[in-house]
Amino acid sequence: MSESPRRRVAILGATGVAGQQFLVSLADHPWFEVTALAASARSAGRSYREAIADAHGHLRWGCQEPLPERFAARPVIDAAALDPDAVDLVFSAVESDAARSLEERLAPHVPVVSTSSAFRYEDDVPIVVPGVNHEHAALVKRQQRERGWKGFVVPIPNCTATGLVVALAPLVRSFGVKAVVLTSLQAVSGAGRSPGVAALDILDNVIPYIPKEEDKVQRETQKILGRLEGDRIAPLELAVSATCTRVGVRDGHTLAVSAGLGREASLEQVANALRCFGREFLDLGLPSAPAELIHVTDDPYHPQPRVDRDRGGGMTTVVGRLRSDGVLDHGVKLVVLSHNTKLGAARGALLVAEYLVQRGLA
Ligand SMILES: NC(=O)c1ccc[n+]([C@@H]2O[C@H](COP(=O)([O-])OP(=O)(O)OC[C@H]3O[C@@H](n4cnc5c(N)ncnc54)[C@H](OP(=O)(O)O)[C@@H]3O)[C@@H](O)[C@H]2O)c1
Repeated sequence: MSESPRRRVAILGATGVAGQQFLVSLADHPWFEVTALAASARSAGRSYREAIADAHGHLRWGCQEPLPERFAARPVIDAAALDPDAVDLVFSAVESDAARSLEERLAPHVPVVSTSSAFRYEDDVPIVVPGVNHEHAALVKRQQRERGWKGFVVPIPNCTATGLVVALAPLVRSFGVKAVVLTSLQAVSGAGRSPGVAALDILDNVIPYIPKEEDKVQRETQKILGRLEGDRIAPLELAVSATCTRVGVRDGHTLAVSAGLGREASLEQVANALRCFGREFLDLGLPSAPAELIHVTDDPYHPQPRVDRDRGGGMTTVVGRLRSDGVLDHGVKLVVLSHNTKLGAARGALLVAEYLVQRGLA
């Protein structure tokens, strides 16, 4: 679909948890070629391997896949010094305060697909989840027109909202959803490396609070599941009540969700809606799309993060424990698992970029 030569891309935050996943996802990509690895001034001037080594030489490489050799000796540059004219697209994977100024400098010149929250809540900025609301991407035209930008910013959601909206979207479309109550059990990798979660705090423990997370999940879910009306997104009128916790799991966020549907539906109808979800999007044939967006399991002992998170290369959301919920009107209960650093970060952002390219927006 993409014309050759491959588009030149930069990764901001290349040394971090999400950034490392970008390296793995982009190592052999048919459309994109990584031409710049960028991080903070602390890492700049070192080779990539040196930049991720601690003082004792231990490599702080967090992916299951090995570090792609082609990147190991590449120099890391200061993200603040990246020349936007030297790249065709930027993937941003830095914490939101730093992301704000970096993305603000680059987006006037070049498309930026971001894992950070810096721009998520602005009216002219879509939060895009492939298969769920990719049509919201059209909002970048307004961004470019009103801001006078050649590029744009398209963020993906908070990694907990990602699994939630994938599971809710088919229910919203088929039955309507009025209310959602959820508790998340979020993986340690979701907290990143700087500073991340200390082993002594998380081993043998559950931490019942993640700063800002519950508000993000609530707001982003309403926006993503909302409708694009001309040049604006009308958020879905949906009551969302989230309790977000951190657990001693390495990768993969689990959500225990109760949803009050807009009308009565049997569990079989709900399971069918989930199973059929996203076929039109998958038919686009994008390189990073999995074979199925949602996998529904009838096994009551699944989904489990260690066993199920890598389904579809970490791009498939696994839903199980489908039951009726007698507390909410037309209620159903389900357990949702999605890979926070793959679908919820790098590969999810990459799939968004592929969609933008295929649609001629980037
Ligand atoms: N981890 C996840 O599961 C996940 C999922 C979805 C979204 N996100 C989002 O992705 C972003 C990155 O998260 P992460 O978990 O990868 O964090 P992380 O492991 O702490 O990595 C942070 C990265 O940002 C770089 N950085 C920090 N300050 C910078 C600055 N002033 N200028 C340029 N680069 C700077 C760091 O470079 P140095 O190595 O040089 O310090 C590092 O590469 C965050 O916005 C996060 O909310 C993360």
